[in-house]
Amino acid sequence: MKILVINGPNLNMLGIREPGIYGRSTYDDLCALIRQKAGALGVDVALFQSNSEGDIVTRIQQALGREDAIVINPAAYTHTSIAILDALKAVALPAAEVHISDIGKREAFRQVSYAGLACEAHFIGLGFDGYVKAVEYLARKYGG
Ligand code: DQA
Repeated sequence: MKILVINGPNLNMLGIREPGIYGRSTYDDLCALIRQKAGALGVDVALFQSNSEGDIVTRIQQALGREDAIVINPAAYTHTSIAILDALKAVALPAAEVHISDIGKREAFRQVSYAGLACEAHFIGLGFDGYVKAVEYLARKYGG
């Protein structure tokens, strides 16, 4: 099974960015953790990070015929991007939404998740473990 893990804007700044909210571990640490857990599950992962909405839309489209499922943390685009929602609906691959922080307990503008409307599972406020749980969930449900 192949899973695409997408991270949106400013998640490349993990470790530097607001450590009180997102922790001190880096994006590279996150990638290593996901690769290690996916490897243990026998899942092939592709890791993609972009600060650009259009590049995220394009990568979701490219998943068609290439990957079997998507884990996505669209970061700030969660709360604004109908284009990312539409791309997820267009490819119609099983998708899981992840947020490192508990967006439900933060500012009012973080209370809407457009991308989440196209996701069948949500792992929110679990830190990096949310990605691991999302990969496990998709592997269990859709893996060979
Ligand atoms: C985030 C939450 C978003 O509201 C924020 O814009 C991010 C990260 C999270 O993982 O907690 O960039 O998606």
